[in-house]
Amino acid sequence: MTKKLWGSRFPKKTSILTNKFTSSINFDKQLAVYDILGSIAHAKMLGIQKIIPRQDAKLIVKGLNALLEDVKSGRFKFDSSAEDVHSNIQEALFKKIGPAAYKLHTARSRNDQIALDIRMYLKDQICQITELLTGLQKAILKFAKKNIDVIIPGYTHLQLAQCVLLAHHLLAYIEGLQRDKTRLLDAYERLDSMPLGSGALSGTSLPINREFVRKELGFKSITANSIDSVADRDFIIEVLSDLAIMAVHLSRIAEDLILWSTKEFNYIDIDFSFCTGSSIMPHKKNPDVLELIRGYAGRMQGNLSSVLILMKGIPFSYNRDLQLDKPPLFDAIDTTKEILGIFISLFGNIAINKETVASRIKDESLFSVDIVEYLIKKGLSYRKAHDVVGKMVKECLDKGAAISRLTDKELKRYSPKLGSDVKKIINAWDSVNLKKSYGGTNPKQVILQIQRWNQRLG
Ligand code: ARG
Repeated sequence: MTKKLWGSRFPKKTSILTNKFTSSINFDKQLAVYDILGSIAHAKMLGIQKIIPRQDAKLIVKGLNALLEDVKSGRFKFDSSAEDVHSNIQEALFKKIGPAAYKLHTARSRNDQIALDIRMYLKDQICQITELLTGLQKAILKFAKKNIDVIIPGYTHLQLAQCVLLAHHLLAYIEGLQRDKTRLLDAYERLDSMPLGSGALSGTSLPINREFVRKELGFKSITANSIDSVADRDFIIEVLSDLAIMAVHLSRIAEDLILWSTKEFNYIDIDFSFCTGSSIMPHKKNPDVLELIRGYAGRMQGNLSSVLILMKGIPFSYNRDLQLDKPPLFDAIDTTKEILGIFISLFGNIAINKETVASRIKDESLFSVDIVEYLIKKGLSYRKAHDVVGKMVKECLDKGAAISRLTDKELKRYSPKLGSDVKKIINAWDSVNLKKSYGGTNPKQVILQIQRWNQRLG
């Protein structure tokens, strides 16, 4: 069993229940690599500053490097009875190099150590997640380019609204994901500050060199207040918020695809390799992957809430409650990476049912705004034009007639400004071509946006 870092002050052994209840090794072992890297920088600094003998510092660094290899290769055996990752690594170091190991924790507390570990972990994870996000954006962009000739009905209130290019709709996803990425990178900037050297909460009387440790570990700055350094976890809350927002985006994209894959819509076909079946209904092909992505979004909100609520009543500075920030954080990070990974592959496995989609964009109600704007261009007020088209749409719907089949005389009955040339714009391609305003669905504009994303995503 791993020795306690604080055992000598205690006249008796802690209860097995206490050991089990307070232990965090089963989850904070995920931080082992960062814990060791932080310790290597710390040990080097202790040696250079002559706080511990240089020979000891060298021995510690050598031992830690060996442990790092063990952890990275999966050889390292974590001790499930250890209190936490910090005790476990220190004890393993003792076994490797002997008593010099016990000089490592000089001028350090687990309070600043854990704050360092999580920040290093998050810097790493943010890089991985933003890379995956770029991967997903690229997969969506590829899908958009492949189907650049597809027009779909756009929806508001989930009712037919206006025609848009499928690529335009997909680029909307890419925009949102880009904001998710930059939000995470903003959080990165703020958490890129090195807390080691804060001690338990007040700093240390030993002549440490925090700037050296900062440089060794590649942080942008050092934290300026030792109490803040050990007490706050706002950077975790910030990352969890960013991930929760991203999860909402991913959930909504999943929801679109789920709807589009229904028999009722039938716009897309998701490859069998990304669907599941039913144990009772042999005909089923279910979009479970997408449903789980939607479902996980709820858990991501829960993880954020969990840490927000955890933090709200904690007095300054460090309290053991803070240990419980890690399970929701790790869950959110792991879940995000898993979702992004499968979503990237899934996007390469969707086929558009072009015929069905083409049949749906024949619905003339999709062009009502185009006719309104036609009339505005002929001098009618917006109000008047809306009334004219409203009446025309209503009567056509009531009689089951098509606007494009109305005679010139019938058209003129609604407004003398309605010429037969209006019929030329009652089709999907003219409809999208007309939307030339910046950010609109005009194909030339959409292609420019695709080129812009091509460059941006590299
Ligand atoms: N497992 C603890 C955490 O996650 C590490 C710090 C423990 N510090 C202490 N003074 N007990 O926050």
